[in-house]
This record gives sequence, structure tokens and C-alpha cells, in this order.
Amino acid sequence: MFVTASPVVTSQEFRAAMARFTSGIAIVTTTDRNGTDHGFTASSFTSVSLDPPLVLVCIARSARCHPVFRQEHRFGVSILASGQGTLAQRFASSSDDKFQDVAVTRTDHGTPLIHGALCTLECETNAQYDSGDHTILVGRVAEAVCGDGSPLVWYGRGFHSLAALSHALA
Ligand SMILES: Cc1cc2nc3c(=O)[nH]c(=O)nc-3n(C[C@H](O)[C@H](O)[C@H](O)COP(=O)(O)O)c2cc1C
Repeated sequence: MFVTASPVVTSQEFRAAMARFTSGIAIVTTTDRNGTDHGFTASSFTSVSLDPPLVLVCIARSARCHPVFRQEHRFGVSILASGQGTLAQRFASSSDDKFQDVAVTRTDHGTPLIHGALCTLECETNAQYDSGDHTILVGRVAEAVCGDGSPLVWYGRGFHSLAALSHALA
């Protein structure tokens, strides 16, 4: 049991701190029981365990697709390549048809994965934990397909390639 500290960090300070954390970007996807695809852009993706192979991603409870990810037993993670910033913006938007004209490949279970991603994972939902205003989805990785290329990078509230970021910060 953790004691909740009295708040000392403002939302603005917290956001500024997080903006200094560099991460990759993933699009997390699933398909509902009617066969409709859902997805959102996520920077909260990370590995959890090697044996068994577990990953996690945090989804806002306010996201429209939250109930779907809560319900479904599988999800896909597409780790984006440096040229896929436009896709990341699209899946971070409130568009009703984020998948329109987006090339996907499907796993045997029908989970959509973004074509051209640096790496794709298919996960079976292993656990879900509500924490603050997000739900932590833990997935057991069933399949991983890796490609070549360089990653899309999220830093300072912007998308970058590694080369452009290192040049800008030099
Ligand atoms: C760079 C970036 C990273 C994001 N990371 C997350 C994340 O880890 N978890 C999350 O719930 N939303 C994240 N978002 C916001 C969602 O992508 C966005 O709210 C999405 O539209 C939610 O899907 P919805 O259309 O179903 O509401 C991120 C947005 C951006 C631009």
C-alpha cells in the first residue's frame, strides 16, 4: 500500500518534465467484435518482462477506444519508422476513420498492424490495471516481426528522426 503524497508538482511542471523524456512512438491497434478496427498513437509503450515476454502500454480512460481495448483479448503494436510522423498524428487525432487508406497487414487473428513499421508485435492481453486516469494494458507478445530502418522519435512535444534530433541538439 502506497501513501499518496500531497501534490507538489503542477500539471505544467509534470508535462515539462515528461517532454524531456525521449521515446519511440507506436500505434496500438485492435479489432472489435463487429470487425471494426481501432487504434491510437502511444509513447507509453515499454517492455516489462523477458520470460514470459511482456510489454505494456497505458491508455487514457478518456480515449474513445478505451472500452474496446478493455474488452478485447488481443492488441497489436506497430513501432513507427522515421517517415511515419503523419500516421502518428492521424492516430492521435479524433478522426472517425483513422484506418482509411492506411496500409495494414493482418495477423492470423485479424489484428491490424501498420505496414512499413519498424517492428510489429501481436500481443495477447495478460493483465489490465487502472492507474490514475489511465489503464495499463499488459500484453504477452505472441509474434514479433522486425524490419530495418530508423525510428520515429518523440521529444520536446515533437516528432523527429534520430538524425534531425541529434543535429538540432548539437
Ligand atoms: C506523441 C503522442 C503520444 C501519445 N501517447 C499516448 C499514450 O501513451 N496513451 C494514450 O492513451 N494516449 C496517447 N496519446 C493520445 C492519443 O493518441 C489520442 O488521444 C487518441 O486520439 C486517442 O484515441 P481515440 O480517438 O480513441 O480517443 C498520444 C498522443 C501523441 C501525439
